[in-house]
Amino acid sequence: MMQEASTTETPAKLSAKLRVEGVSLEFPGGDGRAIKVLNGIDLAIAPGEFCTIVGPSGCGKSTLLSVIAGLLAPASGRCLLDEKPVQVGNPRIGYMFQSDTLLPWATALDNVRLPLEAVGRKDDGRCLDLLRRVGVGDFAASYPWQLSGGMRKRVQLARLLAQEPDVLLMDEPFGALDAQTKLLMQEELLRLWESTKLTVLFVTHDLSEAISLSDRVLLFSARPGRIKEQYDVPLDRPRQIEEIVSDPHYNELFVRIWRSLREEIRLS
Ligand SMILES: Nc1ncnc2c1ncn2[C@@H]1O[C@H](COP(=O)(O)OP(=O)(O)OP(=O)(O)O)[C@@H](O)[C@H]1O
Ligand SMILES: [Mg+2]
Repeated sequence: MMQEASTTETPAKLSAKLRVEGVSLEFPGGDGRAIKVLNGIDLAIAPGEFCTIVGPSGCGKSTLLSVIAGLLAPASGRCLLDEKPVQVGNPRIGYMFQSDTLLPWATALDNVRLPLEAVGRKDDGRCLDLLRRVGVGDFAASYPWQLSGGMRKRVQLARLLAQEPDVLLMDEPFGALDAQTKLLMQEELLRLWESTKLTVLFVTHDLSEAISLSDRVLLFSARPGRIKEQYDVPLDRPRQIEEIVSDPHYNELFVRIWRSLREEIRLS
């Protein structure tokens, strides 16, 4: 029997790796009037949890990740890492932006190494090991323009892992990839997450991806974004991506999330 979608009460004060408390935010609109983007977000993510946000375009998903990373200050509320307020640039939080952020003039290896050295840390060979681990070791000397979209994402992932984060914020990391590369990257991310037990907050428009990867899916409303519903994913671990789509729980959950999400898209 599937679990019901839970409502979004303030999470109990259990141990959380990442906690978002009452976060609201508005941006100035073109006509000078404020646009409310986030509306009282409460969220607690357990250590080692894989949590995914889905929601209509423009509902504030990327904005929330930027607030959690400390890059944007909310109008009200706060974000806590290990129950302490997040500081901008905290290396314990690795943020993979929606846009491609590799340095175009640096090789893949330097893209991983330079940010480490910028904060006074030495590369003791780990950067190349990480590139190998994410499957692009043979391309360490290549420049971003010589790499495919999937390879560039792998280099970005290696760069994040080099800073040894506890938490990964991933904003549509595989959104621009072709369908097969995407499946491959999902598989590899799952294996990586299983072996590291990183806490992941992932954003995607792909419901199949959200269900396949996550312990919990958060459905955002249309702007101003609030958590409309949450769904626990009742699929065993470890998971095989190709087998999930034939699981009846997967299909049932997909339909439930899509029906609720569709209402938000119509209203947005
Ligand atoms: N720096 C900014 N200044 C003003 N408005 C902004 C800024 N950044 C985002 N917005 C607005 O805030 C809203 C939410 O944007 P955000 O990028 O968080 O949405 P999203 O849910 O990530 O959308 P998508 O799924 O398309 O990536 C949008 O209406 C956007 O226009
Ligand atoms: Mg976005």
